[in-house]
Amino acid sequence: MMQPYQIAPVVPAGRRGDRSTITALARGITDCVTDHGSNEAILCARVARILAEAVDDSGWLPRDLMRPAAASYRRELLYEAPDGSFSVGCFVWGIGQQTPIHDHRCWGVIGVAVGAIQSVSYFPTASGALVPGAVDVTSAGGCAWVHPEGGDIHRVGGSGDETAVSIHVYGARFARVCRNRYRLDGTVESR
Ligand SMILES: [Fe+2]
Repeated sequence: MMQPYQIAPVVPAGRRGDRSTITALARGITDCVTDHGSNEAILCARVARILAEAVDDSGWLPRDLMRPAAASYRRELLYEAPDGSFSVGCFVWGIGQQTPIHDHRCWGVIGVAVGAIQSVSYFPTASGALVPGAVDVTSAGGCAWVHPEGGDIHRVGGSGDETAVSIHVYGARFARVCRNRYRLDGTVESR
């Protein structure tokens, strides 16, 4: 009989925070993927509900993982499902740090643990150029999500004048999440 969960942390216990929180989060997301994997809009909303509980108190995150890097935002893998169906990462945003314009080609949910995150969606025009939508700001305890069915070209970064920490859940292996980087004219900068 198949086990309902295959919890195989990729980071040794004790090194990357409270494993019981990460394990509980992974189990909840596994259930969401099993029950709602065919509808990404519903899946993202359900994962956001679970993730909001996890980021409501950031005490389970180790301090060393929450320090910003000078050169760029940090991204650290916390958990990856053995079958590659989803991954969980911790992102740390120094003041002014942000991603390039990019897409995932998979669903993704962000939960803000510390500070605030700003995100902007980009929409292709008839000429192919990308036009930014409104800036959405998500504060600590809140969640936001993107999925390909809704258009998933976007940019994310810290907001305000303090370091931000966010937990990201993606419907793919962590190393494969950022698929294409775009210029504003709509051309692909890198894959
Ligand atoms: Fe993204």
